[in-house]
Amino acid sequence: MPRYAFSQRALHWIIALLVIGSIAGGKVIENFGFEGLRDTFGLDATNAIYTYHKTFGILILALMLVRLALKLRLGKPEYDPPLTRFEHIASNATHGLFYGLLILMPVLGWLATGAGDFPVQFFGWNLPPILSGDKALSETLYDLHAIVGNAILTLILVHVGAAIWHTAVKKDGVLRRMV
Ligand code: HEM
Repeated sequence: MPRYAFSQRALHWIIALLVIGSIAGGKVIENFGFEGLRDTFGLDATNAIYTYHKTFGILILALMLVRLALKLRLGKPEYDPPLTRFEHIASNATHGLFYGLLILMPVLGWLATGAGDFPVQFFGWNLPPILSGDKALSETLYDLHAIVGNAILTLILVHVGAAIWHTAVKKDGVLRRMV
């Protein structure tokens, strides 16, 4: 079975780790809230959780743009044995949604954070806000950020389920294309 280029495989696994970290951090923030985190873990740890969440998100945005460029340039290797028509449609839909949502998600976070006049932290730097001074819009954008987060989580479950099915049931070597 032909494989993806090394650059594509490396980006896949780096982005996968960053997305899992971002979703885990986001869910912690969602469940505790800023005050809850500060009262439980202290202010320094709370600020670190927010800073790393935003930093991971912006890294995902940058790496996804590189990944999209690589995909447009290199395409994807042939499937051997070929996929069924259903598998083709399902995998193209899942992968296309991943690209779209993993670019949309950090942009929503950046827009929401700026609109709420919160700092857009990237490691030790503050990036310029895209929007500012609109708390109501910030709330709406954070709501969208949460909805898209749950959509990404659902896609991850479908994607991992498909990988397990190809490996354990169909045994067609599809997972090896990305390893
Ligand atoms: C792919 C990248 C990202 C993922 C997967 C992600 C994921 C999440 C998730 C799952 C939540 C919890 C939402 C909820 O259910 O309430 C969340 C919250 C949050 N995210 Fe992100 N995020 C990403 C990028 C960003 C970026 C780039 C920023 C800012 C620059 C950001 C800022 C925030 C903030 C401040 C919250 C807390 C919102 C609140 O207090 O209601 N996120 N994120």
